[in-house]
Amino acid sequence: MTDSGELTALRDELISAIDGAGDEAALEALRVSALGKKGAISERMKGLGKLDGEARKAAGQALNKLKDEVGSAIAARQADFKAAALDERLATEFVDVTLPARPEPAGTIHPVSQVWEEVVQIFADLGFSVAEGPHIETDWYNFGALNIPDDHPARQEHDTFYLNPKEDGTRMVLRTHTSPVQIRTMETTQPPIRIIAPGRTFRSDSDQTHTPMFHQVEGLVLDESTHLGHLKWCLEEFCKAFFELDEVKMRFRASHFPFTEPSMEVDIGCSWVDGQVKIGVGDDWLEILGSGMVHPNVIRAGGLDPEKIQGFAFGVGIDRIAMLKYGIPDLRAFFESDLRWLRHYGFSSLQRPNLAGGLS
Ligand code: DAH
Repeated sequence: MTDSGELTALRDELISAIDGAGDEAALEALRVSALGKKGAISERMKGLGKLDGEARKAAGQALNKLKDEVGSAIAARQADFKAAALDERLATEFVDVTLPARPEPAGTIHPVSQVWEEVVQIFADLGFSVAEGPHIETDWYNFGALNIPDDHPARQEHDTFYLNPKEDGTRMVLRTHTSPVQIRTMETTQPPIRIIAPGRTFRSDSDQTHTPMFHQVEGLVLDESTHLGHLKWCLEEFCKAFFELDEVKMRFRASHFPFTEPSMEVDIGCSWVDGQVKIGVGDDWLEILGSGMVHPNVIRAGGLDPEKIQGFAFGVGIDRIAMLKYGIPDLRAFFESDLRWLRHYGFSSLQRPNLAGGLS
């Protein structure tokens, strides 16, 4: 029963069955039938005891060889199955790692949103927090509390949009500046106060540099000792950070606002090259903001004591500094929703401005 012809036949039968096994289960069944306790090879091993001497040795060697051969064939076939399973997984779970992480965003960030965020980042770094106020204001918050009495010419200059009069005859206004947020902040916050108030403002005015809706950012610092030097330092720091320059030439020009005393308009040095403005250097000047020490009447209107509390305020046109920084010529285009304009002047939505990574 262990003659070599019979073993050769068994070998051929097993090897071809192993090669033809369709899956791992079939292969396992074959392994059991050959090498398992009652398998064909194991049974023959058990029979060896009945042989004697040389015959047992020869048959033993032949059976061991067959056992090894069958074992190797099974291992090889198992490896085939593993490789095939892996190939299949690789094919079905294929990921093209060269594809972009996500589709290129179709939209862009509007220059006003970009600059708004840049301004917030800069002042946050200087310790300011962000305050807000309503777009529709009372006459008191927009004018009266800011030391602009009824007959003051500033009221005409502001080209105010009025709402229809209420029953008591008073009229609400679309706020003509962000300065009312000064009063609202004083009413709710005890000094020290350090806020900026970015937001929409409205005036009945429209040309290349004016739109009926535009954006300002108000600043207010109040405590017991803040003085004009702090105002200058603060605005210089802002201009350097905003225009991303080491030095910016600045000029503080005496001016007049009802809500500040003294009042200053701030110009930055610039030059014109081929019709393009270059900020920071040169012999020309561009006005960028209004500022001053908060008028005692304004501090009083905000419910604070001007004998104790003092500080500065400023107001900057967000759209205006956006035009200057990014060389955008016409303000009206800001609000026309022209997709070509938005794609040209817009900013990547994946790169939000911050001081560490760069503002723009
Ligand atoms: N409110 C002023 C305007 O709309 C801008 C301004 C000037 C704001 C001086 C201020 C300031 O806070 O101190 O034209």
